[in-house]
Amino acid sequence: HEIHYFNEVDSTNNVAKELAKDGAVEGTIVIAESQSMGRGRRGKKWISPEGGIWMSIILRPKINPAKAPQLTLVTGVAVAETLKNECGLDVGIKWPNDILVGEKKVCGILTEAQATTKKVEYLIVGIGIDLNVDVKLFPPKLREGATSLKNELEKEIHSAELIQKFLLNFENRYNEFKEDKFPEILKQWRMFSKTIGSYVEVHKRGRTVKGEAVGINKDGILILELEDGSLEKVVSGECIHVK
Ligand code: BTN
Repeated sequence: HEIHYFNEVDSTNNVAKELAKDGAVEGTIVIAESQSMGRGRRGKKWISPEGGIWMSIILRPKINPAKAPQLTLVTGVAVAETLKNECGLDVGIKWPNDILVGEKKVCGILTEAQATTKKVEYLIVGIGIDLNVDVKLFPPKLREGATSLKNELEKEIHSAELIQKFLLNFENRYNEFKEDKFPEILKQWRMFSKTIGSYVEVHKRGRTVKGEAVGINKDGILILELEDGSLEKVVSGECIHVK
Protein backbone atom coordinates (compact mmCIF):
# COMPACT_ATOMS: atom_id res chain seq x y z
CA HIS A 1 0.00 0.00 0.00
CA GLU A 2 1.02 3.53 -0.62
CA ILE A 3 1.83 5.40 2.59
CA HIS A 4 2.15 9.19 2.57
CA TYR A 5 4.14 10.32 5.57
CA PHE A 6 4.34 13.96 6.69
CA ASN A 7 5.93 15.97 9.45
CA GLU A 8 2.94 18.21 9.78
CA VAL A 9 -0.30 18.70 7.87
CA ASP A 10 -3.51 20.58 8.68
CA SER A 11 -5.48 17.33 8.94
CA THR A 12 -4.64 13.89 7.53
CA ASN A 13 -8.33 13.56 6.60
CA ASN A 14 -8.02 16.68 4.42
CA VAL A 15 -4.87 15.40 2.73
CA ALA A 16 -6.49 12.00 2.18
CA LYS A 17 -9.55 13.67 0.66
CA GLU A 18 -7.38 15.55 -1.85
CA LEU A 19 -5.56 12.34 -2.76
CA ALA A 20 -8.86 10.50 -3.14
CA LYS A 21 -10.19 13.23 -5.44
CA ASP A 22 -7.06 12.73 -7.54
CA GLY A 23 -7.85 9.03 -7.82
CA ALA A 24 -5.75 7.48 -5.03
CA VAL A 25 -6.48 3.78 -4.72
CA GLU A 26 -8.15 1.95 -1.86
CA GLY A 27 -5.74 1.35 0.98
CA THR A 28 -3.79 4.58 0.50
CA ILE A 29 -2.69 5.83 3.91
CA VAL A 30 -1.79 9.28 5.18
CA ILE A 31 0.18 9.63 8.42
CA ALA A 32 1.43 12.83 10.03
CA GLU A 33 3.57 13.45 13.10
CA SER A 34 1.41 16.40 14.03
CA GLN A 35 -1.67 18.21 12.75
CA SER A 36 -2.19 21.96 12.92
CA MET A 37 -5.97 21.67 12.43
CA GLY A 38 -6.89 18.16 13.50
CA ARG A 39 -10.64 17.66 13.35
CA GLY A 40 -12.89 15.69 15.68
CA ARG A 41 -16.52 14.71 15.32
CA ARG A 42 -19.25 17.38 15.49
CA GLY A 43 -16.92 20.11 14.26
CA LYS A 44 -14.67 19.89 17.31
CA LYS A 45 -10.97 20.56 17.21
CA TRP A 46 -8.72 17.53 17.75
CA ILE A 47 -5.47 18.29 19.54
CA SER A 48 -2.70 16.54 17.62
CA PRO A 49 0.81 17.15 18.98
CA GLU A 50 3.88 15.13 18.07
CA GLY A 51 3.86 11.70 19.72
CA GLY A 52 0.33 10.69 18.73
CA ILE A 53 -0.82 8.54 15.83
CA TRP A 54 -2.70 10.72 13.34
CA MET A 55 -3.69 8.70 10.36
CA SER A 56 -6.27 8.42 7.58
CA ILE A 57 -7.13 5.52 5.30
CA ILE A 58 -8.76 5.88 1.88
CA LEU A 59 -11.36 3.18 1.17
CA ARG A 60 -13.51 2.51 -1.88
CA PRO A 61 -15.92 -0.22 -0.79
CA LYS A 62 -18.67 -1.23 -3.17
CA ILE A 63 -21.43 -0.94 -0.62
CA ASN A 64 -24.77 0.68 -0.10
CA PRO A 65 -23.91 4.16 1.26
CA ALA A 66 -26.31 3.55 4.15
CA LYS A 67 -23.78 1.03 5.43
CA ALA A 68 -20.91 3.52 5.58
CA PRO A 69 -21.40 4.27 9.32
CA GLN A 70 -20.78 0.58 10.04
CA LEU A 71 -17.19 1.11 9.02
CA THR A 72 -16.66 3.32 12.03
CA LEU A 73 -17.60 0.39 14.26
CA VAL A 74 -15.34 -1.92 12.24
CA THR A 75 -12.46 0.50 12.78
CA GLY A 76 -13.25 0.80 16.48
CA VAL A 77 -12.97 -2.97 16.91
CA ALA A 78 -9.63 -3.01 15.06
CA VAL A 79 -8.22 -0.27 17.32
CA ALA A 80 -9.58 -1.89 20.49
CA GLU A 81 -8.15 -5.31 19.70
CA THR A 82 -4.79 -3.76 18.79
CA LEU A 83 -4.52 -1.85 22.07
CA LYS A 84 -5.68 -4.88 24.05
CA ASN A 85 -3.30 -7.35 22.39
CA GLU A 86 -0.26 -5.13 21.96
CA CYS A 87 -0.43 -3.03 25.11
CA GLY A 88 -2.34 -5.37 27.43
CA LEU A 89 -4.80 -2.62 28.23
CA ASP A 90 -8.35 -3.16 29.37
CA VAL A 91 -9.93 -1.11 26.62
CA GLY A 92 -13.58 -0.45 25.99
CA ILE A 93 -15.63 1.22 23.30
CA LYS A 94 -18.09 4.00 23.96
CA TRP A 95 -20.76 4.13 21.26
CA PRO A 96 -20.24 4.82 18.49
CA ASN A 97 -16.47 4.92 18.32
CA ASP A 98 -14.54 6.32 21.25
CA ILE A 99 -11.90 3.96 22.54
CA LEU A 100 -11.63 4.20 26.30
CA VAL A 101 -9.25 3.07 28.99
CA GLY A 102 -11.35 3.13 32.13
CA GLU A 103 -13.77 5.97 31.38
CA LYS A 104 -11.12 8.06 29.62
CA LYS A 105 -10.78 8.46 25.89
CA VAL A 106 -7.55 7.34 24.24
CA CYS A 107 -8.64 7.26 20.58
CA GLY A 108 -11.24 8.86 18.33
CA ILE A 109 -12.39 7.97 14.83
CA LEU A 110 -13.74 10.36 12.21
CA THR A 111 -15.23 8.76 9.10
CA GLU A 112 -16.06 11.02 6.18
CA ALA A 113 -17.80 9.90 3.01
CA GLN A 114 -18.05 11.13 -0.53
CA ALA A 115 -21.15 9.41 -1.77
CA THR A 116 -24.48 9.73 -3.51
CA THR A 117 -27.51 7.86 -2.24
CA LYS A 118 -26.58 5.04 -4.61
CA LYS A 119 -22.83 4.80 -4.61
CA VAL A 120 -19.86 5.42 -2.35
CA GLU A 121 -17.10 7.18 -4.23
CA TYR A 122 -14.65 7.06 -1.36
CA LEU A 123 -14.51 6.96 2.41
CA ILE A 124 -11.88 8.51 4.59
CA VAL A 125 -11.41 6.81 7.94
CA GLY A 126 -9.42 9.07 10.27
CA ILE A 127 -7.91 7.59 13.41
CA GLY A 128 -6.35 9.58 16.22
CA ILE A 129 -4.59 7.68 19.01
CA ASP A 130 -3.08 9.49 21.97
CA LEU A 131 0.08 7.43 22.10
CA ASN A 132 3.24 9.10 23.40
CA VAL A 133 1.58 12.33 24.42
CA ASP A 134 0.97 13.74 27.87
CA VAL A 135 -2.66 14.68 28.33
CA LYS A 136 -1.70 16.81 31.34
CA LEU A 137 -0.62 19.34 28.69
CA PHE A 138 -4.11 19.39 27.13
CA PRO A 139 -6.52 22.26 27.90
CA PRO A 140 -8.26 21.69 31.27
CA LYS A 141 -11.64 20.92 29.68
CA LEU A 142 -10.23 18.02 27.69
CA ARG A 143 -7.80 16.80 30.30
CA GLU A 144 -10.39 15.20 32.58
CA GLY A 145 -11.90 12.97 29.91
CA ALA A 146 -8.71 12.02 28.10
CA THR A 147 -5.77 9.74 28.60
CA SER A 148 -2.87 8.45 26.53
CA LEU A 149 -1.08 5.14 26.27
CA LYS A 150 1.99 6.80 27.76
CA ASN A 151 -0.01 8.10 30.71
CA GLU A 152 -1.60 4.68 31.27
CA LEU A 153 1.49 2.51 30.80
CA GLU A 154 4.07 4.98 32.14
CA LYS A 155 6.33 4.21 29.21
CA GLU A 156 6.56 5.07 25.53
CA ILE A 157 5.34 2.70 22.83
CA HIS A 158 7.00 2.27 19.44
CA SER A 159 4.67 4.08 17.06
CA ALA A 160 5.58 2.35 13.76
CA GLU A 161 5.08 -1.10 15.28
CA LEU A 162 1.70 -0.24 16.68
CA ILE A 163 0.62 1.26 13.35
CA GLN A 164 1.70 -1.90 11.57
CA LYS A 165 -0.24 -4.13 13.98
CA PHE A 166 -3.28 -1.92 13.69
CA LEU A 167 -3.18 -1.98 9.88
CA LEU A 168 -3.09 -5.78 9.88
CA ASN A 169 -6.06 -5.98 12.24
CA PHE A 170 -7.89 -3.35 10.24
CA GLU A 171 -7.32 -5.15 6.96
CA ASN A 172 -8.68 -8.40 8.41
CA ARG A 173 -11.78 -6.71 9.81
CA TYR A 174 -12.35 -4.70 6.65
CA ASN A 175 -12.20 -7.87 4.55
CA GLU A 176 -14.74 -9.49 6.88
CA PHE A 177 -16.93 -6.44 6.48
CA LYS A 178 -16.75 -6.69 2.68
CA GLU A 179 -17.65 -10.39 2.93
CA ASP A 180 -20.88 -9.42 4.71
CA LYS A 181 -19.61 -10.60 8.06
CA PHE A 182 -20.58 -7.43 9.89
CA PRO A 183 -22.64 -9.46 12.43
CA GLU A 184 -19.42 -11.15 13.57
CA ILE A 185 -17.65 -7.83 13.96
CA LEU A 186 -20.63 -6.58 15.95
CA LYS A 187 -20.17 -9.49 18.35
CA GLN A 188 -16.65 -8.24 19.01
CA TRP A 189 -17.93 -4.70 19.30
CA ARG A 190 -20.45 -5.80 21.94
CA MET A 191 -17.69 -7.49 23.94
CA PHE A 192 -15.71 -4.25 24.01
CA SER A 193 -18.77 -2.07 24.56
CA LYS A 194 -18.95 0.00 27.72
CA THR A 195 -22.16 1.58 26.53
CA ILE A 196 -24.47 -1.45 26.43
CA GLY A 197 -25.98 -1.85 29.89
CA SER A 198 -25.13 1.73 30.90
CA TYR A 199 -27.45 4.63 31.48
CA VAL A 200 -26.71 7.21 28.84
CA GLU A 201 -27.64 10.63 27.61
CA VAL A 202 -27.42 11.11 23.89
CA HIS A 203 -27.32 14.66 22.59
CA LYS A 204 -28.52 15.02 19.08
CA ARG A 205 -29.47 18.18 17.25
CA GLY A 206 -30.44 20.12 20.35
CA ARG A 207 -32.46 17.25 21.79
CA THR A 208 -31.37 14.98 24.62
CA VAL A 209 -32.61 11.42 25.05
CA LYS A 210 -31.96 9.60 28.30
CA GLY A 211 -32.25 5.95 29.03
CA GLU A 212 -30.56 2.61 29.37
CA ALA A 213 -28.58 1.43 26.37
CA VAL A 214 -30.01 -2.04 25.95
CA GLY A 215 -28.43 -3.08 22.69
CA ILE A 216 -27.08 -2.36 19.27
CA ASN A 217 -28.96 -3.73 16.27
CA LYS A 218 -27.60 -5.47 13.19
CA ASP A 219 -27.03 -2.12 11.46
CA GLY A 220 -25.00 -0.69 14.33
CA ILE A 221 -27.84 1.49 15.61
CA LEU A 222 -28.03 2.00 19.38
CA ILE A 223 -31.26 1.00 21.16
CA LEU A 224 -32.25 2.92 24.27
CA GLU A 225 -34.96 2.00 26.73
CA LEU A 226 -36.47 5.26 27.91
CA GLU A 227 -37.91 5.89 31.37
CA ASP A 228 -41.43 5.16 30.17
CA GLY A 229 -40.29 1.76 28.93
CA SER A 230 -40.43 2.64 25.25
CA LEU A 231 -37.54 1.89 22.94
CA GLU A 232 -35.76 4.50 20.85
CA LYS A 233 -33.25 3.97 18.07
CA VAL A 234 -30.30 6.33 17.97
CA VAL A 235 -28.40 6.60 14.73
CA SER A 236 -25.88 9.25 15.75
CA GLY A 237 -25.20 11.74 18.48
CA GLU A 238 -22.90 12.49 21.36
CA CYS A 239 -23.21 9.82 24.01
CA ILE A 240 -22.47 10.36 27.71
CA HIS A 241 -22.33 7.50 30.20
CA VAL A 242 -24.31 8.64 33.22
CA LYS A 243 -23.75 5.64 35.50
C1 BTN B 1 -13.43 12.24 17.53
O1 BTN B 1 -13.98 13.33 17.66
O2 BTN B 1 -13.46 11.40 18.44
C2 BTN B 1 -12.71 11.88 16.24
C3 BTN B 1 -11.27 12.28 16.25
C4 BTN B 1 -10.54 11.88 15.00
C5 BTN B 1 -9.11 12.40 14.93
C6 BTN B 1 -8.35 11.89 13.75
S1 BTN B 1 -6.63 12.24 13.82
C7 BTN B 1 -6.42 11.74 12.16
C8 BTN B 1 -7.62 12.26 11.41
N1 BTN B 1 -7.40 13.63 10.96
C9 BTN B 1 -8.23 14.49 11.56
O3 BTN B 1 -8.24 15.72 11.36
N2 BTN B 1 -9.05 13.84 12.40
C10 BTN B 1 -8.80 12.41 12.39
